Amino acid sequence: MILLASLFGLLASTVPAPQRESTLLATDWKFSRSSEIKDASAIAFDDTAWTSVSVPHDWAIAGPFDPKADGGSGKLPWRGVGWYRQHLVLPVTDTGKRIYLDFDGVMASPEVYINGQKAGGWDYGYMGFRIDATPFVVCGTTNVIAVKADTRYHNSRWYPGAGIYRKVTLTRCAPVHVAHQATFVTTPIAQTDRAEIHLATAITNTLATQVELTVDISLLDPQGKCFEKTHRTLTLPAHACAPLACDFTMRNPQLWDIGMPNLYRAHIAVSSKTYADAETVRFGIRAFSFPADDGFHLNGRRVQLYGVNLHADLGPLGMAFNRSAMRRELEILKDMGFNALRTSHNCPAPEVLDLCDEMGIFVWNEAFDKWEGTSGRRNDQNLEDYVSRNLRQFVLRDRNHPSVFVWSIGNEIPPAKPNDPKDPGMTRSRCAAFRSVIREYDTTRPVGNGNCFGNAIGMGIFEDLDITGWNYGGQYANIKRKHPDKPVLYSESASALSSYGFYAVPPPQNKVDYAVNALEVCSYDHNAAPWSDIPDLEFARMARDRYCGGEFVWTGFDYLGEPTPYMHYFEQMRKYPQEEMARSSYFGIVDLCGIPKDRFYLYRSLWNTNSVTVHILPHWNWSGHENQKIPVYVYTSGDTAELFLNGQSLGRRTKGQASAKPLNLAAGKTATASSFEKTTAHNNPASAALDSSMETRWCASGPNAPQWWQVDLGVPTAFRYISSTFENDAKGYGYSILASDDGATWKTLYTKKHGEKALDILDQPTTARYVRIAIDALDQGRWASIREFALTLEPPTNPYYDVCDAYRLRWPDVRYHPGELKAVAYTNGKKIGEAIVRTAGSATAVQLTPEHTTLPADGESVVFVHVDVVDAHDVRDPRATNQVHFALSGPGQIVAVGNGNPRATDSFADTTQHRLYFGKAVAIVRRNAGQSGTITLTATADGLRPATARLKSLNCSPLDAP
Ligand code: GAL
Repeated sequence: MILLASLFGLLASTVPAPQRESTLLATDWKFSRSSEIKDASAIAFDDTAWTSVSVPHDWAIAGPFDPKADGGSGKLPWRGVGWYRQHLVLPVTDTGKRIYLDFDGVMASPEVYINGQKAGGWDYGYMGFRIDATPFVVCGTTNVIAVKADTRYHNSRWYPGAGIYRKVTLTRCAPVHVAHQATFVTTPIAQTDRAEIHLATAITNTLATQVELTVDISLLDPQGKCFEKTHRTLTLPAHACAPLACDFTMRNPQLWDIGMPNLYRAHIAVSSKTYADAETVRFGIRAFSFPADDGFHLNGRRVQLYGVNLHADLGPLGMAFNRSAMRRELEILKDMGFNALRTSHNCPAPEVLDLCDEMGIFVWNEAFDKWEGTSGRRNDQNLEDYVSRNLRQFVLRDRNHPSVFVWSIGNEIPPAKPNDPKDPGMTRSRCAAFRSVIREYDTTRPVGNGNCFGNAIGMGIFEDLDITGWNYGGQYANIKRKHPDKPVLYSESASALSSYGFYAVPPPQNKVDYAVNALEVCSYDHNAAPWSDIPDLEFARMARDRYCGGEFVWTGFDYLGEPTPYMHYFEQMRKYPQEEMARSSYFGIVDLCGIPKDRFYLYRSLWNTNSVTVHILPHWNWSGHENQKIPVYVYTSGDTAELFLNGQSLGRRTKGQASAKPLNLAAGKTATASSFEKTTAHNNPASAALDSSMETRWCASGPNAPQWWQVDLGVPTAFRYISSTFENDAKGYGYSILASDDGATWKTLYTKKHGEKALDILDQPTTARYVRIAIDALDQGRWASIREFALTLEPPTNPYYDVCDAYRLRWPDVRYHPGELKAVAYTNGKKIGEAIVRTAGSATAVQLTPEHTTLPADGESVVFVHVDVVDAHDVRDPRATNQVHFALSGPGQIVAVGNGNPRATDSFADTTQHRLYFGKAVAIVRRNAGQSGTITLTATADGLRPATARLKSLNCSPLDAP
């Protein structure tokens, strides 16, 4: 495919045509994987036996998965050395041109050889780089490009992929041309009635002679109409690069906004008598700011950022970048109402930013995780040099994207040990230095980072950053107290967990009560990682803390690696063999294959204010549970819903109405404690454990045991259930629950050793005046702390989930009978929509549902086809686990298959068959480049009627596809 940088053609008959041509080097690569390969850079090396691949390519995604490997980075064979070779014919007419190779990303430590000579390379796998190939190539013949990728020293907390996983572009241009990444368009004034546009660029003369040049700069509006032009003449000495700048003023600009992503273009044409070059750069006109007390403003109004974090893999496609698959991810998330992306924790593929520009999505553009192994830095590389060099590259590449609104220099980097210059942690001087590096190339955006170490706040580390992001637990509030003048964002929120389609009954009673016996995580959305919270709690924080611009949920999609809680990283999982542990995450709002989990609708119900959401969970196939209680939840954008089972109303619920709760006999009584924390920032008295608020807590005055907390009921009182909600996982505490009538003699009701799992609720009929929790052991660094405490006669509910009353409608006691569940939703008494879930009968057929029915012949675009099993009435079976076989005829191929099971180890590349996971799988289909005609995908399964899906040709450019 040829991308002609010039959209203009001949500007005037006296001027030569622009000589810049950019070509993707996508096909005809030869690949081999081994550290043993010798001399693969040599021209004469025989690569005929190597595999033919196209680029982007991820050598590890086809597997095989190694079930015995650690799931933290995906159980896939990404570690090692791989070689790529390309035989590139350059025509003799290229003689005299400058020849460049742009690599958008090679994992990792790429070395590039041209005709046997080392031409360049880079060290950070997530960063793009340019090779000036001119001195190494010979025009009029075949040139050998050899690329070595070596991931052996790369460290990762997730799946990083391996090989040339982003595109490679060959650019040939005149020796006099617009300098690489020199053009930067800014809009110092961007108002609805007026904009000022500043364009800076530079022209390079690589010749040994002086040239006389003309430079024509034109601006095009979003409709492609030229509305400004300027003409300059320039004398450029030999081997010189001259900067050039111009300013424009315009009336009534079409602002770039999340709902209306208007994109302008600047076209720069350079010509001499003999040479011509042209470059087009896209930009947007928008003004944003972070008023310290009012979150985020865009074009003069407050905008709440509804963000997600995304890692870079594309599920079954791995790290091999695919624009259409990426666009699909963003489209799915946009349907949820999202408007901001954090590229955790790396520089993204450039197309991600193009898409965000086009779709109206803000980007927190992040360069690094830590400044050590996960950022590709080896210990022997100087930290300051490494980070600065990569940041420079990062900003120069991305600064024209209107979507980019924050530069992030890292994530969760702990403060450096004092007086240890080798410690790769954060220091004030490093933050200041890296901010300066960025500001050398862009002063229009704030520089910040993502944090989790609260103790860094007191160390003065953040003074020189413009903005900080904080991960989990509403931690942004701490820095706000110290620096009320500085803006904050919630860079990671939620880290909630669920498996698509799995429901534990009864639902989990606390956030770390995972369905360990099933090695799944329940989809009633009660679970989160120990350090984080369910979505509803984050919604409440965002509604309250308007000074924070918004949250970035961890994560939008599931990703390969980091399968909390099913990984040996967690000590309690080590009793399971590694083979039982998972290989992809449970964090996603959407699963690894792009199937929305229930949580998707919870976010959508709040974030997508333009559409109606009515979603029922769980599924309604509970044979064996007849007449038992199956809780039903409805996620809706309405304020009220009525639930019906087989036509019978089960009542209405309204958001904000508290669920029925048993009386807490301790509420309002006198609480005391051995000590409590009182500082300028915190006041955590004993009574905070009885105030019915999960946001407050009793916390001891220091990190040591023993500590106790107690309540005085005034008179001996009968109770049956004792529930204590600790701030942290109670497993990290050793404690006893004691009762007394006189406050002097105590009877032990319950003892739990340090490290043992706690009973959430103690069922122990007792009569006493005093109840005490005596904490005798603590995990290192933990402070004894109780959020809420209750004594009841009826089984209590965990107050942690009270916040859900504001966001979800819950019917906890529905008795299961097969048939039809229906929810009718209302806003202000007016019906807005309904949803129905039916019990599926025995499966009779496979069903294929393509997300698009046409597919362009660009050789890249893919279509995701959903695979389900249905009964005689087309009701999908939500528990099906059938093995489904695939076949394809016509001009295309199945590139991968997958399902949302984080523990599956079937290869995504075995495109002949795949198992359904809770009734679902997807097949990903691509058309062969340049071939039209219908593609037919067939799916069969034992005992079921087969299904076919047809994908027709689409005659359009790849940019509009599919
Ligand atoms: C954060 C971290 C992320 C991810 C997440 C999981 O602390 O920044 O990279 O690991 O936890 O909850």
